[in-house]
Amino acid sequence: SGEPRLVIASNRLPLSVKKTDGKYDVTPSSGGLVSALRGLKTAKFLWLGWPGLAVDPSHRDRVDEQLAKEHAAAVYLDEDLAKDHYNGFSNAILWPILHYQAGKSMTPTVWEAYRRVNEIFAESVSNEARDGDLIWVHDYHLFLLPQMLRDRLKAQGKRCPIGFFLHTPFPADDYWRGLPFEEDLLQGVLGSDVIGFHTDEYKKNFVASCDVLLGSVQVTNDHLRYKDRMIKTGRYIAGIDVGRFTRTLEDRKVQARIKELESLYKGKKVIIGVDRLDYTKGLTEKMEGYRIFLDEHPELRDKVILVQIAIPSREDVKEYQDLEGEVSKSVGQIIGKHATPHSTPLLYIHRSVSFEDLTALYAISDVCFLTSRRDGLNLVASEYVACQDRRHGVLVLSKFTGAASFLSHGSVLCNPSSAEGLSESLYQAITMDEEDRKNRHNALRDFVTTHSSEKWTKSFLDDLEKYRVQ
Ligand code: UDP
Ligand code: G6P
Repeated sequence: SGEPRLVIASNRLPLSVKKTDGKYDVTPSSGGLVSALRGLKTAKFLWLGWPGLAVDPSHRDRVDEQLAKEHAAAVYLDEDLAKDHYNGFSNAILWPILHYQAGKSMTPTVWEAYRRVNEIFAESVSNEARDGDLIWVHDYHLFLLPQMLRDRLKAQGKRCPIGFFLHTPFPADDYWRGLPFEEDLLQGVLGSDVIGFHTDEYKKNFVASCDVLLGSVQVTNDHLRYKDRMIKTGRYIAGIDVGRFTRTLEDRKVQARIKELESLYKGKKVIIGVDRLDYTKGLTEKMEGYRIFLDEHPELRDKVILVQIAIPSREDVKEYQDLEGEVSKSVGQIIGKHATPHSTPLLYIHRSVSFEDLTALYAISDVCFLTSRRDGLNLVASEYVACQDRRHGVLVLSKFTGAASFLSHGSVLCNPSSAEGLSESLYQAITMDEEDRKNRHNALRDFVTTHSSEKWTKSFLDDLEKYRVQ
């Protein structure tokens, strides 16, 4: 029908294709971008993205069919091109700078691949979009896409408002300027009508970079003028679908799992950590903090257990492979030093877990321990809160997460640079009295319930609607 739709473009789709023993399978994707967009309540949307692998043309029909059930469609890319775009430029060049890590030097090939993939997306999205559709582009893999789309749509005579949302931090401008092609990337994003960020700080940093590098003018707190267009910049608080968690917790199977885990860990305080295995998540720092905590409180070594889920991520990038070795080593050292014949203070799971197991683990844990060095938002923090109505567990949260700018009132904030400090924060969380825990939980719970993912998509799309040409 001719009714306007929403067309979403992101590198990652809600389902990713995996290949095992020559067979293609689709599995749910990991990460905050996909989780945040799960709350999308618009009936009419189409989500375009990379399926996660080069798929042999003879298998594409089956992949397309499965994706269609999730309103999704694949933008197929050749293996080498995808590798250079995803690993080479997006994850080896952009990701570190966006998270205040030292940048890498770059070969021209990966930049060419980055441009090329953005062009391929521009072609797919502009072909799918109809006059009047809203277009919503996500994240750093597609910085060039908004302007490419603007040009193509104009040539095709289609008027479609274009939105962009960044799911990572946007760093201070002296960091951003350390990137190659720093101006081209900004110009690409400025092809949008509405540009969204997780925090005021990221928005401010972006506006400052545009000012310094491109001479854009900040007209109001929320508007930029660039090349005679008014562009809205905004902070939109992303969240979760709390109902999805509370409903899952009521499920009979999940209830049974909770009982089972509770009896297994009877008499122990459970500390949960859930992170993609990424150097921005501060996992080595977390292990160092936990090691000191156990050294300083030997009486607690068989009364606490840290359950750390490390979701495999970007395993073709060298830094991620090195990190895997480093984290495994710290895990081994802690267990080696503190395990006894009848207990271990650390459980390390280097796999994805099912949604049911994840909610059960959140529910039985007394503390959630998140120590990111930098993190655009961190939805795990909100998910933990959503599962804690019975236990009133404590959230220990790095102040370098976007989430800390909203959840500071109810959490114990920590700084991953100090292992001593992490140990103290953990001790404070574990020994906190019930009244304090309950008050903090209620404050967090109110915030997480009010700022749902549904509200996030709605407030962004409402602003984007305003750019519809009457
Ligand atoms: N998650 C997942 N697979 C798992 C465990 C968790 O996909 O095995 C989800 C988790 O529930 C959360 C997301 O991954 O929604 C992580 O998002 P977050 O914003 O915390 O960090 P990101 O991975 O985006 O950096
Ligand atoms: C972060 C990024 C997302 C990405 C997710 C998972 O949340 O902001 O764009 O989808 O990590 O990473 P992956 O590389 O597997 O898509």
